Amino acid sequence: MITIDRTSASGFITDDEYSIAVNKADTAFDMVVNGTGKGSEWLGWRRILAHPNDAELDEIAGYAAGIRSKADIFVVCGIGGSYTGAMAIIRALNPVFKQNGPEIIFAGHHMSGKYLKELVDYLEEPREDGSKKSVYLNVISKSGTTLETALAFRTLRNWMHLFYDDAEKRISATTGPEGGVLNKIIDAEGYKKYVIPDDVGGRFSVLTPVGLLPIAVAGIDIQTLFYGAVAEFNKSEEDRGNIVDYAATRYALLNKGFAVDVIGSFEPELLGFIAWIQQLIGESEGKEGKGLYPAAAGYSTDLHSVGQLIQEGERNIIETLIVVDQPFSDASVAGGDESDTDQLNYLSGKLFHDINRSALNGTVEAHTDGGVPVIKIIMQKLNAQQLGRLIYFYELFTAVYVYMLGVNPFNQPGVEDYKKAMYRLLGKN
Ligand code: PA5
Repeated sequence: MITIDRTSASGFITDDEYSIAVNKADTAFDMVVNGTGKGSEWLGWRRILAHPNDAELDEIAGYAAGIRSKADIFVVCGIGGSYTGAMAIIRALNPVFKQNGPEIIFAGHHMSGKYLKELVDYLEEPREDGSKKSVYLNVISKSGTTLETALAFRTLRNWMHLFYDDAEKRISATTGPEGGVLNKIIDAEGYKKYVIPDDVGGRFSVLTPVGLLPIAVAGIDIQTLFYGAVAEFNKSEEDRGNIVDYAATRYALLNKGFAVDVIGSFEPELLGFIAWIQQLIGESEGKEGKGLYPAAAGYSTDLHSVGQLIQEGERNIIETLIVVDQPFSDASVAGGDESDTDQLNYLSGKLFHDINRSALNGTVEAHTDGGVPVIKIIMQKLNAQQLGRLIYFYELFTAVYVYMLGVNPFNQPGVEDYKKAMYRLLGKN
């Protein structure tokens, strides 16, 4: 279960402000559950958990196992909601230094020609024994038209068709049910296709084939991840307390004039997940002149850089910390010699988890004293089940909180503005 600790934020809000916000959050929660809010045609991220499609989960796991047994490298080509979810879970659970199965590489999430060129060179580099590397590619785009993804896909699939005789068997595509350029390419080439349901928007799509296929290829148990989310779904249908608390606290702080939410964690494994949260909240709430800017921070690293600004800069910052309660590594500090030359003997034998915990507690104390309200979101362990829970927790929180602002959480009209200007400059009809 995911819990919230708002103790270090409560001193910044009066009881009246909080109870008004709680009532509003309750109403917003009803709007999500009853499908009466703006954009309710995009509530499919709840539908898929209320009615799990086990056959699809099994099929994805089976297809991914086939790729795992054959691929040296799996390239995932997508941007925004079409890549952050997979990246978040893979970075959280896969070993840091040694790949457990095919190497997973992301592409199509920016327009660096250098990156793409070096990627193709890297894919083309032979194995140590001189044979060709085995590369598989999954392109993910709901619209099928996103330029960053489309350009990378053109480059990579052209290369794959030149390099492999069976390229069409190595390429899969995850896209909307019908229409769009990508569907035309899939039909013409016969690529394997996964469908993103119409009622699930990009940033809410990690538990559809968008996220599940790459996550399964990385060797992570997608059934456990998915059913973790189902467990959180079932729990929150019975008890809305945590979501209402969180949404009410953030809303009350926004109304007090806070402008930035630094979302951080003392677990570097969760930095990808924080990027996913950043997109989920930012793209959902940032409309009609509203919203807290969601900034990402990795601790304790960033305490030695932006930590100074958080502690003593303009007082318009709140902080959300994603906390993992139980240790997930038994690494401890080695014993020193008697002379204690490095003066660290007082920590000999201590778990790194416990030292990190003291850094967390000390930071919460210092930041709160410095005028920064801190909210803690606590997961029990770092594993697939708890991450599944955290995914749904954040999806539901985002929908409830953004309804409190009176805007549609599920669209992103502002994203079109840069595209229009870019296409005009590129001379597109
Ligand atoms: O949340 C969203 O809808 C966006 O972030 C999209 O996922 C992103 O723009 C990519 O779109 P597409 O999957 O259509 O290429």
